[in-house]
Amino acid sequence: MTQPAEYLYVTTTGGRYEVIVAHGAFDHLPHHLQRIGLRGAAWVISDDQVFPRYAPALIARLRAAGYNAHGYAVPPGEPSKDLAMAARLYDWLIGNGVERRDTVLALGGGVIGDLAGFVAATVLRGIALVHLPTTLLAMVDSAIGGKTGVNHSLGKNLIGAFHQPRLTLADTTTLATLPPRELRAGWAEVIKHAVIRDADLFAHLEAITDPASLQGDALATIIRRAARVKIDIVNIDERETGERMLLNYGHTLGHAIEAARGYGDLLHGEAVAIGMHLEAQIAHRMGMVDSRFVERQQRLLRAYGLPTNLPPGVTIDDLIERTLRDKKVRAGRARWALPLGIGAATVRDDVPETVVRAILEKATDRNEGPV
Ligand SMILES: NC(=O)c1ccc[n+]([C@@H]2O[C@H](COP(=O)([O-])OP(=O)(O)OC[C@H]3O[C@@H](n4cnc5c(N)ncnc54)[C@H](O)[C@@H]3O)[C@@H](O)[C@H]2O)c1
Ligand SMILES: [Zn+2]
Repeated sequence: MTQPAEYLYVTTTGGRYEVIVAHGAFDHLPHHLQRIGLRGAAWVISDDQVFPRYAPALIARLRAAGYNAHGYAVPPGEPSKDLAMAARLYDWLIGNGVERRDTVLALGGGVIGDLAGFVAATVLRGIALVHLPTTLLAMVDSAIGGKTGVNHSLGKNLIGAFHQPRLTLADTTTLATLPPRELRAGWAEVIKHAVIRDADLFAHLEAITDPASLQGDALATIIRRAARVKIDIVNIDERETGERMLLNYGHTLGHAIEAARGYGDLLHGEAVAIGMHLEAQIAHRMGMVDSRFVERQQRLLRAYGLPTNLPPGVTIDDLIERTLRDKKVRAGRARWALPLGIGAATVRDDVPETVVRAILEKATDRNEGPV
């Protein structure tokens, strides 16, 4: 039987699941749950921004289809992604009689996906998880690949588990209510996916004159395409050994900038956009791409409303020190995902610190010079 074009498949050691990206997809949630054999109670976990907008209709639809459906909303934002909030969710689930055959539905952005995913991975030693991503970042990135987790006071994402969802169902109509800045931050990951693996997607993104007005099937098609890049990479490399490292493009310096500025100032996607611009210049210095590549990528990032200049208040030594503390460092050498052109990338661990320093110096000079 042929499957609709909206369906993408992730293959893992534990089996296969679908990623469906479509306009109006939430209307069919109960049908999809039934189709994949999820018949237990449905525990919808969301945040206070997303819950009132989308959960009541979803819960009503689930109940109409015979599901025993419950809902819980946590405060929005990164501070909710911690063990204390996970403990409250355990209290709610266990206190209300959660069973092994039930399903956690993570309705929201990456914060909810990671938190609810972690709770689903651990309560009763693991129950079914369905991702219902409502941010662009979650649709193309965090709701695919099975990483779940919470933050520790000593660092982000330090406690977690791999727990693949049974289904990821993205309804692109929900992006209409996403704050514009959050939407723009999500475009950074879309552009990153295009650069590392999909030249046609890159050209397609360049041809769009007004990204903010994208909607309906045109938007769903782009998101599906960007999601496919992550799926293809995860299919090859479920647990981040080689290929998955490519997804880290823009993130080595991006994470350093995010941390140096203090989380909550720059959005993750904004820091990644700046990181991509800097890392493209590193690739250029390494002889991997020409200057046209750097300019073309910068033009696209800017067209999607993203910053490419280093923000004030960060020092070069601090950024370099942070890149060496990055999780991806192996044997004291930072590993960089760097582009080879539009649509291709590779991992290098031989980037001299002098090159990184030179690029950062150029970026800082530019900021301090006349505007
Ligand atoms: N598991 C992974 O593989 C993975 C990958 C990338 C990022 N992450 C994690 O994802 C998190 C960031 O996710 P995010 O950028 O989606 O942020 P988020 O979940 O905090 O959502 C951003 C904001 O938008 C609001 N929001 C979400 N959807 C909305 C909608 N449709 N309408 C109106 N408001 C809406 C939320 O309430 C929140 O205030 C980080 O914690 C990061 O570590 C995980
Ligand atoms: Zn990212």
